Amino acid sequence: MVDDADAGGWSAVAAGWSELWADAARPAHDAIIAAAGIGPGARVLDVGCGSGEFLLTARDAGAQVTGVDPAGGMRELARNRGLDVRDADAAHLPFTDGTFDVVAAVNALHFADDTTAALREFARVLAPGGRIAVANWAEGALNDVDVIERAVAAADESDPLPDGPLRPAGGLEAAFAAAGVHPLEAGVVEAPWTAPDDETLVRGILLGEDAAALDFFRAAIVEAAAPFRTADGYVLRNAFRWAVGEV
Ligand SMILES: C[S@@+](CC[C@H](N)C(=O)[O-])C[C@H]1O[C@@H](n2cnc3c(N)ncnc32)[C@H](O)[C@@H]1O
Repeated sequence: MVDDADAGGWSAVAAGWSELWADAARPAHDAIIAAAGIGPGARVLDVGCGSGEFLLTARDAGAQVTGVDPAGGMRELARNRGLDVRDADAAHLPFTDGTFDVVAAVNALHFADDTTAALREFARVLAPGGRIAVANWAEGALNDVDVIERAVAAADESDPLPDGPLRPAGGLEAAFAAAGVHPLEAGVVEAPWTAPDDETLVRGILLGEDAAALDFFRAAIVEAAAPFRTADGYVLRNAFRWAVGEV
């Protein structure tokens, strides 16, 4: 899977991300929309908005929505859905101070070079009384997908990627505190990922890899996923942690 902040890499996998993974975060979208009080008229910015799924949900809730993403392929998908999305990363938001009521980042803050600087930049564009809302995959122990990623690493004779600092319990709150953001509410939500068949499973796990890699790792992935196979395909139980804060 794409695991760095490379905008070209995210552009290359934009369609696959949107098709296979973006919907997995919907329970986190619902949690932060409720906790941040996103409703009619709220001015919402989504940082690292990808193909725009969170923005569409916030728009359905009545918000005025804007996104930023450094990956052109992601911006194109989001714009094709009628969304206002600018070319920017978390460190440099192209908006004047106090523009938004909510600044959100779903599965994106960890790609910023400096999480603290990024959260301070979120705070800069936040209007008085506004909210910062962040959601990220929870620690590997809560994610079935981690079992499969460890099997891929073993087949590759490499070490699995460690959990980043935002993923364990308290990680988002600690990042908020470092940036002067006061946590108001936080939680963890189940966010299952489903794949109807082996082909989709392997394509999703190896998003961005070439055909040779898919062939090479297929057997290890299918074997590791066996405990998650159901009559309707694979169901991997994963989780997102989320936190909402104010400055
Ligand atoms: C895992 S995807 C998540 C996309 C979307 N938020 C979602 O939940 O479906 C990560 C997104 O972060 C973007 N990204 C990468 N580096 C970033 C940065 N430094 N600042 C903001 N976004 C970044 C990528 O282009 C990509 O669209």
